[in-house]
Amino acid sequence: MSHTFDTARVTLIDHPLVQHKLTILRDAATGTKQFREIVRELALFEGYEVTRDFPLEDVDVETPLAVAHGKRIAGRKVAVVPILRAGLGMVEGMLDLMPSARVGHIGMERDEVTHEPREYYCKMPRDIAERTCIVVDPMLATGGSAIDAVHALRRRGVRDLRLVFILAAPEGLEALLAADPDIRVYVCAIDDHLNEQAYIVPGLGDAGDRIFGTL
Ligand code: PRP
Ligand code: URA
Repeated sequence: MSHTFDTARVTLIDHPLVQHKLTILRDAATGTKQFREIVRELALFEGYEVTRDFPLEDVDVETPLAVAHGKRIAGRKVAVVPILRAGLGMVEGMLDLMPSARVGHIGMERDEVTHEPREYYCKMPRDIAERTCIVVDPMLATGGSAIDAVHALRRRGVRDLRLVFILAAPEGLEALLAADPDIRVYVCAIDDHLNEQAYIVPGLGDAGDRIFGTL
């Protein structure tokens, strides 16, 4: 089946270092410690791209020699929003880049039979509507979890909404982009298809289980 989506709203981060690390992540022989480290590192790489359009303002600083005309981020307020559980693995990488960002948590679990997501937790910063929201989750499979997270954030008044995944299935990307006309999506790779259990193929398996060692 062919899938169509608006490629202008999808940023594919295929830097050589990202591809190298992603291959290690996919390898079934990679253990929990290294898996966790690489998920964090990939989030940091993706963080560079998701913040690329942040506006700058002029600022002068005194170097030991003279005044330098520099730039700094112009007061952007950010919330990183992991979809629990696996999204937690990407939070630290994002906070390495944006240490003063707030963190909102949304708990979503896929039913193993129907593959439908069920929200079991939601705690957002009070001023979430004024923040640029960066939703993080390693996997976009059917898109159900991400779409529910988008709806939950829109209901809370969020306008600037970006979603960052490590792997996506074409089916999930199509569904997610169709669900909201204004979101932007960042991903390290778009895989081939979903299998009957709605797992991404070739994928990397169950991201949450591999991050937390609950296989
Ligand atoms: C995984 C993954 C996504 C979701 C993707 O979480 O981390 O949140 O599945 O699937 P979807 O696009 O079909 O909704 P899971 O529900 O396995 O929970 P976990 O993070 O607690 O392991
Ligand atoms: N969730 C995962 O962790 N992996 C998949 O392939 C699909 C959903």
